[in-house]
Amino acid sequence: MKANFEPVQEAKRKAALEAVKHVKDGFIVGLGSGSTAAFAIEALGERMKREKLRVMGIPTSYQAFLLAVECGIPITTLDEHPEIDVTIDGADQITPELNLIKGMGAALAREKIVAAASKLNIIIADQQKKVKVLGENNQSVPIEVLPFAISLVKRKIIAAGGKPVLREGKGKLGPVITDNGNAILDANFGEIAKPGELDAKLKMIPGVVETGFFVGLTDIVYLGTSSAVEKIEKIR
Ligand code: 5RP
Repeated sequence: MKANFEPVQEAKRKAALEAVKHVKDGFIVGLGSGSTAAFAIEALGERMKREKLRVMGIPTSYQAFLLAVECGIPITTLDEHPEIDVTIDGADQITPELNLIKGMGAALAREKIVAAASKLNIIIADQQKKVKVLGENNQSVPIEVLPFAISLVKRKIIAAGGKPVLREGKGKLGPVITDNGNAILDANFGEIAKPGELDAKLKMIPGVVETGFFVGLTDIVYLGTSSAVEKIEKIR
């Protein structure tokens, strides 16, 4: 991998290197999506070559799949390996309770499935992702929606106090289509005191496939700066 000395990139890379240390020979590893998770996939590929580790990856997106193949990580599926030893993924916001908003890369549905199948969930990010409350700084919650249900889900989100916006593609006209063939509504609810309750309410709307709330799923967070990495563990 090329050295990249931009401070935020270096912070992400440092967090990724710490997370990859948790991987042991024979592990099934959940491969997260996004720019920070990409550093972990690259670092895992390097460790596998250097230490002759036998590891198989379960990617959470086409992005993760293609990068894993490029890095020489054999791919498997949840059907073949229903229990994942460790998943390493990024996040868009992280609270002190280790609750998250994820999905700015539109991979939230597969990311949540892989997280739910994992014995250990590690989140890696730079310090800017740390917040006191989810929804701070105008952060919206990505919600994956069946295209047929977009107008219904929009109305229900507005009734629940949110402001939904259909995510538009970059480099393609029209809406973003997820790896599962669905649309994304980015819904702004302001600061969210009870993300678990809002998550449950949104999941009740017909046509909602998944939300970007990850509540109670994370075990360890590594938050990087350009010079150090902070480790935060779930209080049990
Ligand atoms: C994709 C995700 C990403 O992990 C999240 O958006 C963070 O991405 P990045 O590391 O590029 O900031 O949830 O669906």
